[in-house]
Amino acid sequence: MGRAKKVVLAYSGGVDTSVCIPYLKNEWGVEEVITLAADLGQGDELEPIRKKALKSGASESLVADVKESFVKDYAFAAVQANALYENRYPLGTALARPLIAKILVEVAHEYGADAIAHGCTGKGNDQVRFDVACAALNPNLKILAPAREWGMSREETIAYGEKFGIPSPVKKSSPYSIDKNLLGRSIEAGVLEDPTVEPPEEIYEMTKAMADTPSQPEYIEIGFTRGIPTSLNGAAKNPVELIQQLNQVTGNHGIGRIDMIENRLVGIKSREIYESPGMLVLIQAHRDLESLTLTADVTHYKRGIEETYTQIVYNGLWYSPLKTALDAFIQTTQERVSGTVRVKLFKGNATVVGRWSNHSLYSPDLATYGSEDQFDHKAAEGFIYVWGLPTRIWAVQSRS
Ligand code: ARG
Repeated sequence: MGRAKKVVLAYSGGVDTSVCIPYLKNEWGVEEVITLAADLGQGDELEPIRKKALKSGASESLVADVKESFVKDYAFAAVQANALYENRYPLGTALARPLIAKILVEVAHEYGADAIAHGCTGKGNDQVRFDVACAALNPNLKILAPAREWGMSREETIAYGEKFGIPSPVKKSSPYSIDKNLLGRSIEAGVLEDPTVEPPEEIYEMTKAMADTPSQPEYIEIGFTRGIPTSLNGAAKNPVELIQQLNQVTGNHGIGRIDMIENRLVGIKSREIYESPGMLVLIQAHRDLESLTLTADVTHYKRGIEETYTQIVYNGLWYSPLKTALDAFIQTTQERVSGTVRVKLFKGNATVVGRWSNHSLYSPDLATYGSEDQFDHKAAEGFIYVWGLPTRIWAVQSRS
C-alpha cells in the first residue's frame, strides 16, 4: 500500500520535479502522477516542459496560465500592502506559492487525487508555503515532498532519473538556483553563497549594468485606482501588460537589484539576489500616493499592518484568518488611493518627483509659507501648551 494513489505534482521541468515522477511511483507506490506547471510569465517554453512530464512518466501533464490572477490578486495586493520583506524583498517568489497551491488543489479535486506533491527540499521557505497553503485549502489532501526525504545528491538525482529515461540536463546546468516569474528573479547558490563576493554580472537578466544604462533620465507616470496600478504614461493597462512594461522600462535604467542576507523561516540566513524592478517602483510610487491621500494616523497605523502582512506572506500563511483580517483593513484604506505618480528613472535610481490625486489631502493654503496662508498661527500656542503639559510637569517634578 503506497502513500497515495493519485498525486498532483507541482512541475517546473527541472531535474528535481522530473525525478519526483518515477520516484513517487517506484519508491512510494503512487499509481498515477498528474503534473501541473503554472505559467507565471517565467518565459520558459511550456510545451517542451509539458511533454517532458509525460516522457518522465506522468499520466497527464497540465499547464495552467495564471499570469493574470498572479499579478492582479497576488502581486497588486502586495503593492497595496507596500510589502517588502526585511524592508527590501518584494516577495516575487513568496507570492507565487499560494497561487500554485490553489491550482494544485483545484486539479486534485477535478481528478479525484488524494495527494499533492512538490519538489522542494527541506531547507527553504517554499516547502512551508506549499504545505501550509494546501492544508488550508483542503486539509484532507496528503502532501508529499520526495526531495525532502530522498537524501540524494544532485548527481545521484540525475543518475536516478536517467534510469527511468529522464534526460540529464543538456547544457551544463547553471550553478545558480533561480526562480523567476513576472515579478522578478530570485537567484541563489554558486559563488553567491559567499556573502563577501560581489554578484557576477552574468546572473542578471532583467536589469542593465549601470555602465550600460541610458545617460539621460526618463520620466514615467504610474496611475493608481484604489491602490491598484492601472495605467502607465496615461494609457490604461491590464495587470500583466503593466508589470511587463514597467519591468522593461525600469530595468533598462538598472533599477531593481537587491543583494541581501535574508532570514528564512527555517532559521537559516541565506544570501539572496533579486531583481524585481517593476515591483520595487510600484511599491515606492504607491506608498507615495498614500502619503498624499491617507490621513496621518491611517498612514502610520498601516505601517504596522504592512509589517505583519509581509511576514505572513513570507512565512506561508497566505490563506489564514489573520491574513484575511489584514486584507480587510488594507482594502478599506485603499478607497481613495487613486491618482498619478511621476517617477524619474536614472542610473539605478527611481525617484518620485511628483504626485497628484482628486482625493489629495494636501492643502496648499495650509502648507504655504506665502501670504495666502490660512493656518491659524495663534491656535498653535494653546495646542502646544496642552500637548507639552505632561512633559512640562515631568520637568518641573525632576527639578524639585
Ligand atoms: N528566499 C526567497 C523566498 O523565500 C526566494 C527563494 C527562491 N528560490 C530559488 N530557488 N532561488 O521567497
